[in-house]
Amino acid sequence: MRRAKITIVGAGNVGATTAHWCAAAELGDIVLVDVPATEQMPMGKALDLLQSGPIMGFDARIVGATDYEAAAGSDVVVITAGIARKPGMSRDDLLATNARIVSSVTEQVKACSPNAILIVVSNPLDAMVQRALQVSGFPPHRVLGQAGVLDTARYRAFLSLELGVSVEDISALLMGGHGDTMVPMPSCTSVGGIPVTQLLSQERLDAIVDRTRKGGAEIVSLLKTGSAYYAPAAATAQMVEAIVRDKKRLIPCAAYCDREYGVGGYYVGVPVILGSEGVEKIVELQLTASEQAAFQHSVDAVKELVAAMGKILAGG
Ligand code: LAC
Repeated sequence: MRRAKITIVGAGNVGATTAHWCAAAELGDIVLVDVPATEQMPMGKALDLLQSGPIMGFDARIVGATDYEAAAGSDVVVITAGIARKPGMSRDDLLATNARIVSSVTEQVKACSPNAILIVVSNPLDAMVQRALQVSGFPPHRVLGQAGVLDTARYRAFLSLELGVSVEDISALLMGGHGDTMVPMPSCTSVGGIPVTQLLSQERLDAIVDRTRKGGAEIVSLLKTGSAYYAPAAATAQMVEAIVRDKKRLIPCAAYCDREYGVGGYYVGVPVILGSEGVEKIVELQLTASEQAAFQHSVDAVKELVAAMGKILAGG
């Protein structure tokens, strides 16, 4: 059986680190594509990563490219291309520039890998994945966005620090858009099977939820020159793994919701079953009134973002 072919577009911090995690987990052969200022940067990063294989003990062919020829026939394409946030910027400030970049990348991906599953990572995430769907014309189950795994990981990491419990024992869910309106779900959070609400006061839980919502900005303000990449890349690699190993993971992803949760044709973070077909099922759970209100607020923010993107792309 041939190895999966994984193309990662954008060889910056998120793209290159995604390649690193995917290679270390032997998820497949990797093509790293970018159109950088310093001409052969993706080739350099790919070769460097390849040469770590004998030490780390992974077998993978890793190549860098500045066009899409080497990416032909990919099974999974991860789109990380675009500019990242600087301190003081919201993810939405990236909208105009990244909408154009993601449009052009998606056109080229569609031409070279018409059967691929697309994972969009570029921000503002929920609008960028909608754009990738529009431009690719792929069925929605083959176009999804990374955000929920990252946001949930932040939430789990903070809970682990607070409780002094292994991250492995913390199971959680976070829904909604990848922005300040994301909806952590304490009712779906447990620690070794124990509902988190039995282990933490409402006040501490609220503080952790708040830190999770601002988790991306916290890192931007520390790094100063860009945004997070280790955890976003690890989250993306987990999604790639779910697809190439057909693991049927039940994890939150930005998925196209039409009738689901009454969203009406937008991408928003929801629990899905992720396997070799892409989004194999959107899991609909009963929300409490306050969760529903928070979710709706988040969906409204996504709709506004998509409308703003429509105006920009129409030249308005
Ligand atoms: C973050 C960026 C990558 O949440 O959206 O860190």
